[in-house]
Amino acid sequence: MTLPAHKIVNIADLRRVARRRLPRAVFDYIDGGADAELTLRENSRAFEQVTFRPRCAVATPSCDLTTTVLGTTLALPFLLAPVGSSRMFYRRGEEAAAREAGRAGTAYILSTLSGCRLEDVRAATTGTAWYQLYLAGGRDVATAGMARARAAGFSALVVTIDTPVAGLRERDVRNGVKELLTKNPWTMAPFVGQFAARPRWLAGCLRDGGLMTFPNVMIDGAPMPYADVGAMLEQSVVSWSDLGWIRQAWNGPIVIKGVHIAEDARRAVDEGADAIVVSNHGGRQLDGVPATLRCLPPIVDAVGGRIDVLLDGGIRRGSDIVKAICLGARGVLIGRAYAYGLGAAGGEGVARAIEILRSDLVRTLKLLGCASIAALDSSYVDVPPEWIARRP
Ligand SMILES: Cc1cc2nc3c(=O)[nH]c(=O)nc-3n(C[C@H](O)[C@H](O)[C@H](O)COP(=O)(O)O)c2cc1C
Repeated sequence: MTLPAHKIVNIADLRRVARRRLPRAVFDYIDGGADAELTLRENSRAFEQVTFRPRCAVATPSCDLTTTVLGTTLALPFLLAPVGSSRMFYRRGEEAAAREAGRAGTAYILSTLSGCRLEDVRAATTGTAWYQLYLAGGRDVATAGMARARAAGFSALVVTIDTPVAGLRERDVRNGVKELLTKNPWTMAPFVGQFAARPRWLAGCLRDGGLMTFPNVMIDGAPMPYADVGAMLEQSVVSWSDLGWIRQAWNGPIVIKGVHIAEDARRAVDEGADAIVVSNHGGRQLDGVPATLRCLPPIVDAVGGRIDVLLDGGIRRGSDIVKAICLGARGVLIGRAYAYGLGAAGGEGVARAIEILRSDLVRTLKLLGCASIAALDSSYVDVPPEWIARRP
């Protein structure tokens, strides 16, 4: 037990511990956003602008936190979002995170850009697992990845559509991420001090094989090396026309992740998606787009209940999850909230992040006088008046 209860009260505490344990380049990779980080900050700030309307003097001795997504009932209304390179945060990071999601009765979404083999991640959890697709390496490589994921037992495919190029993460540039990947000692030299300053992380990383590769992206029989992900994404843009062959190759439920506007939500429904995630990639892609919470109500209206609508971005407390559900989300994805936990203390940290959010949810429901996630609706919140104005 490395995380004393009195010191780790909320997600911000896990972030603080992760910052102390991880080299700067790794911490900033998790924590940072694109450009001026406007959207990164907005995602969280939007939750602060929504206020609650509790029903007081209502006894709720027990609270039902279950939600049903793609027909599967989850014990919690939040899923663990795809977070690439989790293996750099902690030894066998994706397996550790998936295991804790399963123990808590919720789903884990594995990124294509995982450091652990998808079969090992699937085997690590007793819970639901979905596979997130990038077309890294091209169509044939992606098709082979999907076939492996289906055979291993991943039950849904998450197609991320907001990444035609990697956003400019200015912190990564300053930390020398590109130079560190050159493997040229002279180029790397100015940036290696940050690793020496974190010997515990370094020892764990070396024991885990050092710099990870991407074993779910097999190119000519070998895992794709850890390289410039931005360049790779630019060569593997997903467009609506790709959904046809992806559906043929997958033959299971498809979730479109990265929907910002009602028009794209309608398009996703028309293209046969089974669910969408209202997401701006946690403020890591196009800086200047609004907070996802603000985008949610018009998207929920456009979808009109035809498919499940999920949301991610900025969730750091259980009350944030409640607000998103009040505004029409069926559930949410958490990204950094658990990634900080993984960086702080591996599986124990992920479990703590999940437990913090779970107990927040119960307390918030009781204080609202609402016995279940399913009973939440817009009558439990007030939104700023300008949010209600519609586009003509
Ligand atoms: C370090 C990191 C890596 C990510 N990698 C991926 C990825 O590989 N695929 C993807 O679809 N989204 C990725 N995302 C975006 C998350 O799935 C999610 O949309 C975002 O983290 C939600 O915002 P939050 O971190 O504020 O909860 C990543 C996010 C972070 C923080």
